[in-house]
Amino acid sequence: MEEFRYREGVLACEGVPLNELAQVHGTPLYVYSERSIRERFKALDAAYADVPHLICYAMKANDNLAIVRMLGQLGAGVDVVSGGELFRARRAGIPASRIIFAGVGKTRGEIAQAIEEDILLFNVESPAELVAIGEVASEKRRVARVSVRVNPNVDPQTHPYISTGLKKNKFGVPTEQVVDVYRQALDHPYLEPVGIQMHIGSQLVRVQPIVDAVSRVIELVQELRVVGIPIRYFDIGGGLGIRYRDEQPEGPADLACRVLPLIGSLGVTLLCEPGRFIVGSSGILLTKVLYRKDNGAKRFVVVDAGMNDLIRPSLYDAHHEIWPVQQKCGEEVVDVVGPICESGDFLAHDRVLPPVAAGDLLAVLSAGAYGFAMASNYNARPKPAEVLVAGNAARLVRRRETYEDLIRAEEGL
Ligand code: LLP
Repeated sequence: MEEFRYREGVLACEGVPLNELAQVHGTPLYVYSERSIRERFKALDAAYADVPHLICYAMKANDNLAIVRMLGQLGAGVDVVSGGELFRARRAGIPASRIIFAGVGKTRGEIAQAIEEDILLFNVESPAELVAIGEVASEKRRVARVSVRVNPNVDPQTHPYISTGLKKNKFGVPTEQVVDVYRQALDHPYLEPVGIQMHIGSQLVRVQPIVDAVSRVIELVQELRVVGIPIRYFDIGGGLGIRYRDEQPEGPADLACRVLPLIGSLGVTLLCEPGRFIVGSSGILLTKVLYRKDNGAKRFVVVDAGMNDLIRPSLYDAHHEIWPVQQKCGEEVVDVVGPICESGDFLAHDRVLPPVAAGDLLAVLSAGAYGFAMASNYNARPKPAEVLVAGNAARLVRRRETYEDLIRAEEGL
């Protein structure tokens, strides 16, 4: 969280104090550092500089148009998982030639949309999906480029909900079926197999499982070349972890120095799909203390951000550091909870914080990835605003939703 630091006792994002942002834009509020996003992207780009590569930002992590646009301007492509993301990516100015499409449940409508846009390629997750892409491509008389997502059956050693590369997970094609799926693609007049893909899970703090999976996929590439299927794109997925508590995650340089020697000689373009690594620690959720409450057994700090704004603690029992915006001394143990009518609505359990009072501001750290992107309107709560900071300037990049926004899709029916 290099770009979130105390300056004269007040937490700031780059050069902008967070209390000023709260005053102007209200809370809850997502705040992102442009410099942090840029630097994280550049670290990835530098790590793969020795080989032809394209970084396809996994925009599911944070699909704000301003952030996607900025990454596009730095040369990024994107990894989309729905027609909606494809729509957003195009609106953010990402050229179709830099868009790849993942996901186990692409609808025919979404496939048609992507073929019309002429995206770089589809990552295919099953033989049945390949058939569907082939049919839609034939109808449109347009060739669809495909990669097969391999399920390498490697344990990524992360939370079970975000582990994707094991046989028991719904993702990818098992290695023993991969060659057949490529043959099927090769025989189809409107399908062009061009690449191979893997993604084994998210928030990986060690790169070894990715390296193991890459080794398995390389064996497949060699097998495919023998049977006349050229592989031009090798996609190693996303998954690099960030620091939420005290992790010391390995980063892109660690991954590149292990993986590039393995795939360097294949003559492929390297693709990767990082999401969390780029935006996770580049954003915080700013929230205000509404009440303190002591029920004898526990001390609660009730804040104005709930599980609808940031669901990661409730859903994955995820840890997010919480810092008071105004630096304070002292310690107490509290539960930081939101206003939603569920006991699962918490941001932290049994957390040591300096004593805070109603009206104080708190920053929930490392909330830039899968924060706003997973926000909902549960309890009819308007979604928070989002601000992008660059140096001493802050720009509103999504306005706070209004009550009218909440009912817009139900009116005039
Ligand atoms: N590629 C594919 C095919 C994916 O499924 C994902 C994430 C990514 C790339 C990006 O992974 P990343 O670099 O961000 O780790 N909501 C969860 C994370 C879900 C990840 C889903 N797939 C969380 O808040 O931890």
